[in-house]
Amino acid sequence: MAESMQGLKRTCRCAEVTEAQIGSNVTLMGWVQKSRNKGGIIFVDLRDRTGIMQLIFENGDIDEEGFNKAAKLRSEYVIAVTGVVEKRSGAVNENISTGTMEIRVNYLRVLSESEVPPFPIEENSKTKEDLRLKYRYLDLRRPDIQKNMMMRSKVATLTREFMAKEGFLEIETPMLGKSTPEGARDYLVPSRVHPGSFYALPQSPQLFKQLLMVSGYDRYIQIARCFRDEDLRADRQPEFTQIDMELSFVDVDDVIDVNERLLAHLFKEVLDVDVKLPIQRMTWQEAMDRFGSDKPDLRFGMELKDVSDIVKDCGFAVFTGALALRDGTVRGINASGCGSMPRKKIDKLVEFAKGYGAKGLAYIAIAEDGTRKSSFAKFMTDEEMDALVRALDGKAGDLLLFAADRKKIVWNVLGALRLQIAEELGLLKKDEFCFLWVTEFPLLEWSDEEERYTAMHHPFTMPMDEDWQYIDSDPGRVRAKAYDIVLNGCEIGGGSVRIHQNDIQEKMFEVLGFTKEQAWEQFSFLLEAFKYGVPPHAGLAYGLDRLVMLMAGCDSIRDVIAFPKNKDAVCLMTQAPGEVSEKQLEELHIKTDVDEEN
Ligand code: AMO
Ligand code: AMP
Repeated sequence: MAESMQGLKRTCRCAEVTEAQIGSNVTLMGWVQKSRNKGGIIFVDLRDRTGIMQLIFENGDIDEEGFNKAAKLRSEYVIAVTGVVEKRSGAVNENISTGTMEIRVNYLRVLSESEVPPFPIEENSKTKEDLRLKYRYLDLRRPDIQKNMMMRSKVATLTREFMAKEGFLEIETPMLGKSTPEGARDYLVPSRVHPGSFYALPQSPQLFKQLLMVSGYDRYIQIARCFRDEDLRADRQPEFTQIDMELSFVDVDDVIDVNERLLAHLFKEVLDVDVKLPIQRMTWQEAMDRFGSDKPDLRFGMELKDVSDIVKDCGFAVFTGALALRDGTVRGINASGCGSMPRKKIDKLVEFAKGYGAKGLAYIAIAEDGTRKSSFAKFMTDEEMDALVRALDGKAGDLLLFAADRKKIVWNVLGALRLQIAEELGLLKKDEFCFLWVTEFPLLEWSDEEERYTAMHHPFTMPMDEDWQYIDSDPGRVRAKAYDIVLNGCEIGGGSVRIHQNDIQEKMFEVLGFTKEQAWEQFSFLLEAFKYGVPPHAGLAYGLDRLVMLMAGCDSIRDVIAFPKNKDAVCLMTQAPGEVSEKQLEELHIKTDVDEEN
């Protein structure tokens, strides 16, 4: 029984009905959220993307055939109704915006029936994510997800409008290209026409947007799909979306300026939140030293303190041993108010720290009466213990945690611990928005695995003028004109001023271990283009998914992407990736070498 909608025209959406319409006829269409049959009277909640409207079917208002049809309505049927808007006769429903009204239906059509869905369509679904992703088209009916998708659309629209006013041109760049060295693995697409050759899906439009600057477009923006084959986490998807931009004849402050105004505009229009400008800035070095992270969450304190000097001559081999390492350090944080944490829970924190590379975690727990319990007091003098407590501003009821190791590990461990404890203490409020620019990143990062320097941002990032002199003698010391925009401990965007001089670019490739030939082979088009007049330029890209995730108060970017992949990079709905036919492979000159079990 699926009827056509011929002759019917929807007058508005469910929650667009206003009290001014009381007494008049409207035609609504949507899904049955639920229906309750009370004998002579049937109540139906009608749902569309704007919300819910209560319908009343009563014999007399509607003919018998219509009433009988109404009695058969089940969840997720799609119906059209015509009826009179009335003030609600029963109790007002405060939970919905149309809670003071209802529609007395005089005409009903069932446009489509529905089987019983595999899970109820409801806000904050408790259904397992795997099942929801398999039936994503049903999951996407949930009001909370629909709100996220509408917010995402609004962010995109506002961004386009704002950037257009600022003189940015929207230009599309290719999906089928050559691999860009953004650091992740590429997704490859075989070429049928050129057997054995592959396109790479873009990890970002980086090189194309730089070339657009060379071509004189001055300011570019694109809401661009990017592809990276990397291990997935809650804030990472194999395909994701960037708000990508590039500007000519600018320096760091110009990029920061337009982006601060963009962010303030978005937060005001979408959330009615005032972003205080200018946004705070912190160098990478300071961020690491104070928070152990290049994306510090500033919603709470719990800063790292360096206590190396205090313990350098102590009798605790764990500390002195660490200090003897290259870049060895001992640092601590004060988990204020956790002084009475039971031993078992402290052990859990130690295990957590080990997950981040710590060999252990030393602690001093200060009880409310001021007495101390510590895992290493027996190796220390009273003076040294007092000094440690003082250094961390330890008071009654505090728990002091120390990590000793190479700097990189200590940062990593305490940075993660700080977040974990804040989470446990409920310090991470989702409606508080703490923005931060992290600046002056190192240009290069040593890779133990590859035994060479790699670009911390990407190979086209401009070194800081005053540091370039160290590029041969001490490459690790050179800082870059790179910046990240961080929100509540999440890197929502990053960018840099680009190298626009051929000699610096060639030197950069050399430091990264490319021979001149290799550099030309991979980037000939860029190096060639740079021979013909390059404007100084800089840019930035946001992860749109991450930005919207935080604005919507979600924990995963999957909640703001219509059709996301799961943790194994699989689309549970379409079952992508899937096998293809022998014929397709033959056409592409591809032979697979996967044993049956895989
Ligand atoms: P970057 O690699 O820092 O810079 O990426 C920019 C932003 O994109 C988001 N992001 C992701 N979001 C979801 N899933 C992923 N797998 C993922 N990877 C990155 C992050 C990140 O801050 N071309 C440069 C930008 C530039 O220099 O202009 C670039 O891509 O929020
Ligand atoms: P141990 O002598 O190995 O039993 O360690 C004594 C205390 O020091 C324990 O609480 C360990 O968890 C802690 N510890 C061990 N290694 C480290 C480290 N690298 N940094 C901080 N604490 C550590």
